[in-house]
Amino acid sequence: MSQNEDKIFMRHFTGLMVFLVIFTVVIAFFGAYLGGKFNSNDNASQQANTERNLQSPAAVYTGSEAPQLAAPAAAVAAAPAETAATAATTDEAQADIDGAAIYQTACFACHGTGAAGAPMLQADAWTERLAQGEDTLVDHAINGFNAMPPKGGQMQLSDAQVRAVVQYMLSQVQ
Ligand code: HEC
Repeated sequence: MSQNEDKIFMRHFTGLMVFLVIFTVVIAFFGAYLGGKFNSNDNASQQANTERNLQSPAAVYTGSEAPQLAAPAAAVAAAPAETAATAATTDEAQADIDGAAIYQTACFACHGTGAAGAPMLQADAWTERLAQGEDTLVDHAINGFNAMPPKGGQMQLSDAQVRAVVQYMLSQVQ
């Protein structure tokens, strides 16, 4: 390549670079302008969505006892362990828990589909597991077991709720 061709190339190349730099700056300003124009914090429904997404997990529906838990959501968030402990100690609370509903929201994703190798609610998948006894199964559901995450990843569930769900699951396979 001759010196002259190099010069022409450099001139074009520099021109292109300058153009791209200017283009980038223009796009950046344009984006900032649009961002300011559409980012309306006064949009009521957007605000409501944001607040709903920031709710404490304790406010999420987890069965028939949810109204008690959800109503004072702030208080529950402040003392979730206490609520769980109270729920765990009373037999009425245990009977009151809707294991089937919690199963649908917290466990179905894996146990309804077999995702991650989770045993589905079919008798043959549970024969060996049942041999461990209900308490061991509940313990594995609460504290996790191999690919089974503790409480199915829903740490806002009380131990009593998890026990109720396991009892529901076992009632489906026995
Ligand atoms: C992310 C997927 C996932 C979710 C969500 C999940 N599980 Fe599991 N679960 C598994 C897998 C995988 C296994 C099998 C673990 C193994 O045997 O190695 C399992 C096993 C179990 C077992 C049998 C444990 C044993 O000792 O054989 C029980 C009981 C159980 N899960 C209960 C639950 C309950 C109750 C929930 C909802 C609160 C739940 N799981 C949510 C993946 C999941």
